[in-house]
Amino acid sequence: MRHFRSFSILIFVALAISTSALGQSRKIEQRVDSLLKQMTLEEKIGQLTQYAGDNQATGPVNFKGDHLALIKSGKIGSMLSIMGTKYTRQYQEAAMQSRLKIPLLFGLDVIHGYKTTFPIPLAEAASWDIGLIERSARIAAIEASASGIHWTFAPMVDIGRDPRWGRVMEGAGEDPYLASRIAFARVRGFQGTGLGNLDSVMACAKHFTAYGAAVGGRDYNSVDMSLPQLWDIYLPPFKAAVDAGAATFMNSFNDLNGVPATGNHYLQREILKDRWNFQGFIVSDWGSIGEMVPHGYAADRKDAALKAILAGNDMDMESSAYRFALAELVNEKKVPMAVVDEAVRRILRKKFELGLFDDPFRYSDPEREGRELNNPEHRDFAREIARKSIVLLKNDKQTLPLSKNVRSIAFIGPNVKAERDNHGFWSVHLPNLDYDKFIVSQWEGVRSKVSGETKMVYAQGCDVDCRTTDGFAEAVEAAKLSDVVVLSVGERANMSGEAKSRSNIHLPGKQEELIKAVVATGKPVVVLINAGRPLVFDWTADNVPAIVYTWWLGTEAGNAIADVLFGDYNPSGKLPMTFPRSEGQIPIYYNHFNTGRPARDEDANNYVSAYIDLKNSPKFPFGFGLSYTDFKYADLKLDRSQIRPDGKIGVTFELTNTGKVAGEEVVQLYLHDRVGSLVRPVKELKDFQKVKLGPGETKRLSFTIDKEKLSFFNGDLQWVAEPGEFEIMIGSSSADIRLRDKFELVK
Ligand code: BGC
Repeated sequence: MRHFRSFSILIFVALAISTSALGQSRKIEQRVDSLLKQMTLEEKIGQLTQYAGDNQATGPVNFKGDHLALIKSGKIGSMLSIMGTKYTRQYQEAAMQSRLKIPLLFGLDVIHGYKTTFPIPLAEAASWDIGLIERSARIAAIEASASGIHWTFAPMVDIGRDPRWGRVMEGAGEDPYLASRIAFARVRGFQGTGLGNLDSVMACAKHFTAYGAAVGGRDYNSVDMSLPQLWDIYLPPFKAAVDAGAATFMNSFNDLNGVPATGNHYLQREILKDRWNFQGFIVSDWGSIGEMVPHGYAADRKDAALKAILAGNDMDMESSAYRFALAELVNEKKVPMAVVDEAVRRILRKKFELGLFDDPFRYSDPEREGRELNNPEHRDFAREIARKSIVLLKNDKQTLPLSKNVRSIAFIGPNVKAERDNHGFWSVHLPNLDYDKFIVSQWEGVRSKVSGETKMVYAQGCDVDCRTTDGFAEAVEAAKLSDVVVLSVGERANMSGEAKSRSNIHLPGKQEELIKAVVATGKPVVVLINAGRPLVFDWTADNVPAIVYTWWLGTEAGNAIADVLFGDYNPSGKLPMTFPRSEGQIPIYYNHFNTGRPARDEDANNYVSAYIDLKNSPKFPFGFGLSYTDFKYADLKLDRSQIRPDGKIGVTFELTNTGKVAGEEVVQLYLHDRVGSLVRPVKELKDFQKVKLGPGETKRLSFTIDKEKLSFFNGDLQWVAEPGEFEIMIGSSSADIRLRDKFELVK
């Protein structure tokens, strides 16, 4: 009876909450309706118009001079790239002088932290730690919202199968399952417990869609792709973002099968707004409405505005196409007023949800800003996530961890003393903050880790471009004088990111020659690779005993790297993207099809699908990463060998830490659908767990397989699980499968 009573109370509370949420959203709809009725067409178009301030621009800036006047006359609804309570307040004050006093929305690319920077998103993905990734977005939102920002243009959820494409640094890598889990977490992190809470910002899933599949890995290039591939590989993270409640979406620069994403009715109206019932709004990418003219899809800016709004693009970022052409299009009856109203309604709804109509300055509290931007917990967290994002690629003869009492270290390379670079591309540059000082460099991190007795010798060797060998002799000398060498090489932060495609993804310039010269001294060498993408470094991989992939780790980079180098943290990161042996293998990804003539690496020349001059296998596979300990996988058990569509299979196995130190392992579960109405990948990640075990400790782990994990989009784009045999593979990477079995899906 008591149980029944508490159960009834629970139901009552749940009902009360959902009824009040319903009431709240009804109230918002009424307020939106009544506001819409008062708006002129010009004011409506104003709500669909967004311009950039001059804090941070990522493209050509238009009409800077008259922004304030436009805001006062209700012709701008949103500004991007303005930050700080002081600036945002000034802009909002201007909006409050407009006839209807509709508040502005402030958007910004808060991609991996705000003042406190976290690892670049691809690096965070390497942590495979979903809780931590959500927390990273949460803290970014806390700082950004305290600084006047309502809306981040993140997460970027584009699948990246091509490391030449510089924007892989912004995403979660190549796998749709991992990327979907991360997309969900990031949206949740940014939006917190819901819009309207002062520490939440609106998320924006971008770039919708298939932007990462640009031909040749060249940014902004065209994409040609089958619809099953679009649905199976590229759309899932976007769907996850909708499921997590993403308030906004951004479309993309590319054309997809001949239709620019910005003017793409199928993507924006049919899939996103209709099939997925997305209630938020879609913003164009920077100038992407106007770019439909050079694409050859629109005759002029007016035609571009027509195509964009009809296709479902709600807000115009920086094209001025809606501003100059939409009124005419409505007056000529080419665009129904209802279409404009729908777009305005979606945007106003969010402004109401954010509470901006109740208090337009609620995000402009300098006291909160000061407190949150200097919150020491954020820095502690930055160190935690940074060290969990590092991937140990090689550790022969237990070169690592190093002893803190080592007598002498030569710390060599272009990135040892780098400061700003550690923030990575897409970090926010706050006015009045000396970013070079607000960072722990790698030199400082190591210096504060080793004993006072340890002698540290520095030699740059060469800069990042490394065009000459002039500094090599000094580096070799430093190596000879020391017990161990740490070499920090890689890209500059701005070698990956938007418009940073590279046709050659080797270590830049003569960096690998620098490594060779230092290795020739015979000293133990550890190489740190700083980069925003998978690089090619075959000689290093084959000849250097220890390699640590550090990506770009943010504010606490130096401390995090030192934690791993000296064993205060046992590395646990795993690659979220395949590392090729050479650019010639790109695109390269683990979840490929088998083909009718599958090859093993040794089979080349035998009329199989292979190169005659290179292996098919990657240099480092998806899901790979070492630890200072070892893990044993044993005793796989499936609780049944057949599953019905409404059933489940329980999977268990034992994981043991067989080494001498505690460590974390990311156990990965892959499935292979043996026969399909469309051919299926050789394996697909369907689940994973990150597990911490003490030395000698064993745990029995379990997974559940249900129909969802067996389904895919068939030729009719239906989500189906087809009866037949499935292989199950559990392992430490996509190429290191330790346990296998099979089961059957029966009707
Ligand atoms: C990028 C977007 C970004 C926007 C605003 C564009 O160039 O493609 O990802 O959000 O600029 O800065």
